[in-house]
Amino acid sequence: MRRRIVAGNWKMNGSKDLSEKLVGYVRSETGSLDNGVEVVIIPPALYVGDVLRLAQDAVSVGVQNVGRWQSGAYTGEISAEMAKDAGCRYVLVGHSERRQFFGETDEQVAEKVSLVLASGLAAIMCVGESLEERESGQAETVVAGQVRAGLASVVRAADGRAWQNIVVAYEPVWAIGTGKTATADDAQAMHASIRGVLEDMGAPAEKISLLYGGSVKADNAAALFSEPDIDGGLIGGASLVAEDFVSICRYFPAGA
Ligand code: PGA
Repeated sequence: MRRRIVAGNWKMNGSKDLSEKLVGYVRSETGSLDNGVEVVIIPPALYVGDVLRLAQDAVSVGVQNVGRWQSGAYTGEISAEMAKDAGCRYVLVGHSERRQFFGETDEQVAEKVSLVLASGLAAIMCVGESLEERESGQAETVVAGQVRAGLASVVRAADGRAWQNIVVAYEPVWAIGTGKTATADDAQAMHASIRGVLEDMGAPAEKISLLYGGSVKADNAAALFSEPDIDGGLIGGASLVAEDFVSICRYFPAGA
């Protein structure tokens, strides 16, 4: 069975105070989930230590980005090795905000995926089309290109085990932070297409978790999570509201 993951990406939001209030609540409310969901919190890197302390192993922790280098004179960057050393389990790679505001290219995404895997952590690689690309019928082609390019290093490594640490998050750019969500049918269709691309790349596609992200809220999570190829969610805004985030974790059907 594929890992079911609900990951909260705090982006550049949060504080020590929010960490105290939210993580303790999430830990106590999701500790008794019977639907096998792995709950992940991805705070700004400065709060990783606090979140880890408060999570007490009941919730996994990740970082939102790592640098393209192993170590050295790259002021302001953190490395995948550091994320591992600090106690993280996941690294988000290639979020559309990184691509849009920091010019991150598919090649850089591939370099980061390689470094994340080398550190022993799991990469949640984000892909997704813009509104123009969707409206011009290019969505599947664009997303397939991002999957192939971003995971090229995994194919080159030719080590089947590397795929165990790959998670792909499909986040249509037009749905992020806008309140617009892909319909469950459209999201399912794209997830099935991504799984087909992974298969074609020689990956154990049936074992790779595919998350949906983009305005997932307590009122649409249940429909998205009941689709066969949607293995969880990457949640932005709603992950900052403890009750909403916990509700989303609960909407996964038990035992399905
Ligand atoms: P959102 O963000 O849930 O606020 O749309 C999702 C994401 O960017 O990961």
